[in-house]
Amino acid sequence: MTASRILLYCRTGFERECAQEITAAAGAAGVEGFVKARPGSGFALFEPHDPAAAGDFAASIAFDELVFARQLVRALPLVPLAADDRVVPIVATVRRLGATRFRALWLEMPDTNEGKALAALTRTLAPHLESGLRTAGIAFDEAQAKERLHVFFVGSLACHVGTSAAGGSPWPMGIPRLRMPPSAPSRSTLKLAEALLVFLGEDPDARALAPGMTAVDLGAAPGGWTWQLARRGLMVTAVDNGAIDAALLEGGQVRHRRDDGFHFEPAQPVDWMVCDMVESPSRVARLAGRWVARGWCRRSIFNLKLPMKKRRDEVLRCRASIEDEIGAPHTLRIKHLYHDREEVTAYLSKEPLHWKRPRRKS
Ligand SMILES: C[S@@+](CC[C@H](N)C(=O)[O-])C[C@H]1O[C@@H](n2cnc3c(N)ncnc32)[C@H](O)[C@@H]1O
Repeated sequence: MTASRILLYCRTGFERECAQEITAAAGAAGVEGFVKARPGSGFALFEPHDPAAAGDFAASIAFDELVFARQLVRALPLVPLAADDRVVPIVATVRRLGATRFRALWLEMPDTNEGKALAALTRTLAPHLESGLRTAGIAFDEAQAKERLHVFFVGSLACHVGTSAAGGSPWPMGIPRLRMPPSAPSRSTLKLAEALLVFLGEDPDARALAPGMTAVDLGAAPGGWTWQLARRGLMVTAVDNGAIDAALLEGGQVRHRRDDGFHFEPAQPVDWMVCDMVESPSRVARLAGRWVARGWCRRSIFNLKLPMKKRRDEVLRCRASIEDEIGAPHTLRIKHLYHDREEVTAYLSKEPLHWKRPRRKS
């Protein structure tokens, strides 16, 4: 049986944006169907009218191009479970996928309060399910198999079974778990840490990020993003009228410039411009486009604060103004990161991405 549904995980409250994205992708691919995206559920499910068209469609979606989806899974219809036997129906459903070898088994749930309450259940179930699957001839092989097997619990008595390809998120539930560095001056630091991980990979190519490079951080105070860059050995100019954490300014690696981020121009081109100013997203998008277009920086990571409504429209508008500003061929990726709230984070460069897939173990 074809896994014809497309299951997208997202942050609670962003189901609508996820639905809009998958609907637009389906429209562009000429695939008709409908989306279920209950507000607050933490996921959206696209169901094509013609299951036969689904395989090609799913393969044609570039996960990296989706802004609001944390993970993309090709799934079978909902599997009802019995409280006293969840293993048998799940194993029977996995067999319907047709494959006998997967990279890994991930038991997941929506990133909601109800979802979190299922964690104990999945922890207890995991060894039984794994053993049931092995008995049924299903093997797990990180090196040889291409797809991961997902069992996504939408409640204690129902789940979706499906697979994700190598291009999907390399983290369970699409969430990279990052620890707050004790010496970083703000929690915002985790946004840039995640952005670097998502856009450049776990061990960035030295052409993209290396000690000795230069950076400008616009809207830097109190210094969480600057801290991330300095920790990686970059020389940083931190631009903000607000105060920068004093410890960061010791040692000469970080210089503070009290200035308006929209007026500041670097004396020399820099390798990186990062920006976390709380300002209108289209203004910030145009600013980043201008920096890259003029060669003031080679690469940029910037955060776009979204309005409460029409958030996807705003992202599309920002994308259009960046493209307008930059003109030349470029790489632009925009993601709603786990550490982003009402905001998204973007990566922009005229150079190739030089991306290294995170080497995280499944
Ligand atoms: C969310 S905070 C930045 C947090 C910072 N990334 C960190 O990790 O600590 C936003 C900062 O943008 C600054 N900001 C807003 N508009 C600005 C502007 N036009 N020029 C310079 N800084 C600005 C504010 O002063 C504020 O410190």
